[in-house]
Amino acid sequence: MVGKLPNDADALAGMHFSAATAAFQIEGARTAAGRGRSIWDDFVDAPGNVIDGSPAEPGPDSFHRFDEDIALLAGLGVDRYRFSISWTRVIPNVGTDASVNPAGLDYYDRLVDGLLAAGITPEPTLYHWDLPVALEASGGWLNRDTVHRFGDYTEVVADRLGDRVRHWYTINEPASTSLQGYALGELAPGQTLLFEALPTVHHQLLAHGIAAPILRENGAVQAAPTLNHSLILPASEAADDQAAAGLLDVIHNRLFTDPLLLGTYPDLSAFGVELPIEDGDMELISAPNEVYGFNYYNPTTVRASEGPLPFEMVPTPGAPVTGFGPMWPIRPDTMRDFLIDMARRYESALPPIIITENGASFPEPDTTDTEISDSDRIDYLRDHLGAVIEAKEAGVRIDGYTVWSLLDNFEWADGWSQRFGLVHVDMRTGTRTPKASFRWYRDLISAARS
Ligand code: NOJ
Repeated sequence: MVGKLPNDADALAGMHFSAATAAFQIEGARTAAGRGRSIWDDFVDAPGNVIDGSPAEPGPDSFHRFDEDIALLAGLGVDRYRFSISWTRVIPNVGTDASVNPAGLDYYDRLVDGLLAAGITPEPTLYHWDLPVALEASGGWLNRDTVHRFGDYTEVVADRLGDRVRHWYTINEPASTSLQGYALGELAPGQTLLFEALPTVHHQLLAHGIAAPILRENGAVQAAPTLNHSLILPASEAADDQAAAGLLDVIHNRLFTDPLLLGTYPDLSAFGVELPIEDGDMELISAPNEVYGFNYYNPTTVRASEGPLPFEMVPTPGAPVTGFGPMWPIRPDTMRDFLIDMARRYESALPPIIITENGASFPEPDTTDTEISDSDRIDYLRDHLGAVIEAKEAGVRIDGYTVWSLLDNFEWADGWSQRFGLVHVDMRTGTRTPKASFRWYRDLISAARS
């Protein structure tokens, strides 16, 4: 286990602190103000996809209650807020009609102005999984045209917000979209293409590569994707388990780090798929970014399998677990080790890291009148910040840390059944009640600054 605690606030001095959310997870108001449909609307509306049948609205209803979110962020003392912009609020019918929806842009305009007035740097993500439905109908991220439509959308948003927003994230967790969304069908768009899904990786990375220069031309000082990583652990010393872990490491981690940082893909011959690379793509994908957005939650333990995939996930022996159970083990040491290994592997190609997501869900009541005592979440965050400190002491440059999430929110296929917030949200009334972890994070930030 990680030894250092963030009472070592000195070790965190100078870092940026943030909390994160995403549009579809907090905004609600799915038909308000001209918003068009995304693949998540389709996914949610099809019975059986979301574990508790929750409709993703009203929930936190941040489309109407963003002032409350800003007040909470100000109380927390974060200097940044990572939220996402809904493509279909901005261009509701992209794919059939390129018209821009002024009411959608106005919403983000007000949010940005409110954050700036509160002294908080806005750091929007352009794409957090809510692909417009008409683009999915033409192949979604399997279709190279989606990359160009993403470029158009980036132009519109950068033109409107670029005078005030300087810190951007482009694409969030392309591994989740490709592997869970297109390969396994656990997330929207719910396709089960197995390794035939891998071209979606290239197109998402290319979308980042096309968007980043547009953002920089509009004043950005940061334009980076956020990548989710997991240290892959073999279930045993057996050669087939070791090989299975190696394969999963390639498609979960190296498939993203190598093209972004080295300009090449790892050997994918074991997966039998060719990526649709065209001239100039790798230069765009590997153009240096100011930071590396790094999401981390847990390690993944795998053994060899004879099934449709050559690996199978198994519980991580001896590790405590989060509200998701055995497949979300708590092992902060694996985050430290991943960071150190990444810094060694990529050396000067790796820019400063921002931890763009880290957090955990634990069973908590749907309603509360009082502060929830979430000591399990405090332990999780403390130990992962300890891992950050240890990685920094080992020489990894880490400039920021972001808790997922500011608010309890719509946890995708798990609906409202998993709560990640520093702030409890009653999903029927939208009432926000800060948890003990909110006070803990506030005190940590304040200690790191003093
Ligand atoms: C990653 C995703 O970016 C976010 O949307 C999700 O809620 C968290 N992980 C927790 O699963």
